[in-house]
Amino acid sequence: MIIRNAEIKDRESLEEICFNTRTGSLLNVEDKKGFTYRWVTNYVENFIDFCFVAEDNNEIIGYIVSTPNTEKQEELYYNKSGINIIRTITVLENLLEEYPAHLHINLTSKTRGKGVGTKLIESMENKLIESGIKGVHLGVMADNEIAFSFYKKNGFNVIKNQILDNNQGSVLFMGKILA
Ligand SMILES: CC(C)(COP(=O)(O)OP(=O)(O)OC[C@H]1O[C@@H](n2cnc3c(N)ncnc32)[C@H](O)[C@@H]1OP(=O)(O)O)[C@@H](O)C(=O)NCCC(=O)NCCS
Repeated sequence: MIIRNAEIKDRESLEEICFNTRTGSLLNVEDKKGFTYRWVTNYVENFIDFCFVAEDNNEIIGYIVSTPNTEKQEELYYNKSGINIIRTITVLENLLEEYPAHLHINLTSKTRGKGVGTKLIESMENKLIESGIKGVHLGVMADNEIAFSFYKKNGFNVIKNQILDNNQGSVLFMGKILA
């Protein structure tokens, strides 16, 4: 297994993992192209230096996509998709100054629990540090206990709890200051 920088040619493999591992209410999503553009492809298109893959025997088994600049990423995403998402700045407000980067990580189910996620996080953090970025955040559904433990173990702490409308649970924003 190796961790390497993502390349444009990896895009389809990342989209497959992204779509095939969705859970819960996301299983109802039918617009695969829109879904994967939102969660993976726009990062690969615009911030490829901050995206990494785990590869085993020439097969991509997991990825981390990230951006050093959340406001820029959201603007580029909106310009291309026309979809006006709730901007992170309206949720995190001035916390975004401390944690300007964000990430999404996903592994195929057979890859989980073997330290691969930790290696992907480390690769991304090294790149962010090298680029002078001082903090990174993410959002995780409060009921995703495995991911929550994973982020805690990797040094992230809760910086904001956003309760969603209509009993949809809550999103925990977690942040880490990079040395
Ligand atoms: C969350 C995810 C990226 C973690 O990656 P991973 O390679 O499985 O995690 P690691 O093997 O590096 O584990 C590191 C730590 O995470 C926690 N962890 C990992 N799997 C766990 C599990 N099944 N139960 C409880 N804690 C777990 C542990 O603290 C672990 O440390 P330990 O090995 O010393 O106990 C991966 O499980 C995944 O892709 N999940 C599905 C997608 C997802 O939920 N993404 C996050 C959305 S916000």
